[in-house]
Amino acid sequence: MTKESRRISALMTLPAAEPDSYFEETAPPRTLSDLEDKVAKFIQIHRLIPGRKVVLVTSGGTTVPLETQTVRFLDNFSAGTRGATSAEYFLAAGYAVIFFHRQFSLQPYSRHYSHSTNCFLDFMDVNESGDLTVNHKYTSKMKQVLMQYRKAKEESLLLMINFTTVREYLFGLRSITRIMAPLRHNAMFYLAAAVSDFFIPENKMVEHKIQSSGGGLSLELEQVPKIIRPLVKEWAPEGFIISFKLETDPSLLSEKATKSLNTYGHQVVIGNILTTRKRIVTLFFRPEDAPGPLDIVMSDEELKQEQEIEMKIIPELVHCHDAWITKSQAFSN
Ligand code: PMT
Repeated sequence: MTKESRRISALMTLPAAEPDSYFEETAPPRTLSDLEDKVAKFIQIHRLIPGRKVVLVTSGGTTVPLETQTVRFLDNFSAGTRGATSAEYFLAAGYAVIFFHRQFSLQPYSRHYSHSTNCFLDFMDVNESGDLTVNHKYTSKMKQVLMQYRKAKEESLLLMINFTTVREYLFGLRSITRIMAPLRHNAMFYLAAAVSDFFIPENKMVEHKIQSSGGGLSLELEQVPKIIRPLVKEWAPEGFIISFKLETDPSLLSEKATKSLNTYGHQVVIGNILTTRKRIVTLFFRPEDAPGPLDIVMSDEELKQEQEIEMKIIPELVHCHDAWITKSQAFSN
């Protein structure tokens, strides 16, 4: 072990705070009541529609500020592709979607024309009369995306809420799940966000910019409380809950995903490996719901045609959710 890795592992051994004490000791974000109002209105609309299913999709990475007046923060790799793509397939399957995402990460529909890989200017042309047009190569796909986007907007099927820090994420998630709880079995929670595992608690954070004149910097990070436990047990105990497990070492995935299901008792864990996450995922179920895990794989041909793995993941989950709703109704009759 190198000197550096010894130092980091020593710093990461502080125990995780319990979710309850985290919420007691941390000030809620200023924007929380606005978030709660928006979500409550959205749920009010969809509760009145018989059989309407609503899914919360979390997406993108959370930041960990190093200073209260934040100049620097820790971040992670997630661009929000999984969340934004999944939201589109849920909408296509008839769900109303609360898209709780990292600010400036990919968003449903606009993701096809945003960020550096898909700059919208590359899709535009100026014709001989000097009018702005869409390059004819792209019109058919763009029209299709535009129609889907307009339908979601006109029918109030998509609510966009953003977060940046891990604190905003944790408080927002708690509020949204509690407001969705009255939907009972018709609520689905699809937790694709890459949530920070380590953070600096407010009472240990410096207010002003950390000065570089003091030499090197050592950080002491505490573990973020595992939020999935109260979500499953208290906030939305009747919801259909899907968490993700991300690993870089494939030999750990199955054991850790199974452990997560056994520990928290929710319905599905989707396991993925960082480098292959767009080509293969594995769905892990509770033993009473399925005989074993299910691999979802994209062929080379499908990937060449720019098809997305979410087109296979979402129908599978919708099927499981429907079966689960039917089973729950049978129990309550
Ligand atoms: O955005 P992309 O670039 O498309 O990438 C998609 C993705 C790889 C981020 C996504 O597919 C994914 O795997 N998301 C979850 C990543 C992650 O946080 O995994 P984890 O093993 O660290 O956490 C496992 C679960 O614990 C998560 O479902 C999370 O909701 C939950 N968790 C995490 C932290 C925390 N404090 N409390 C939690 O309950």
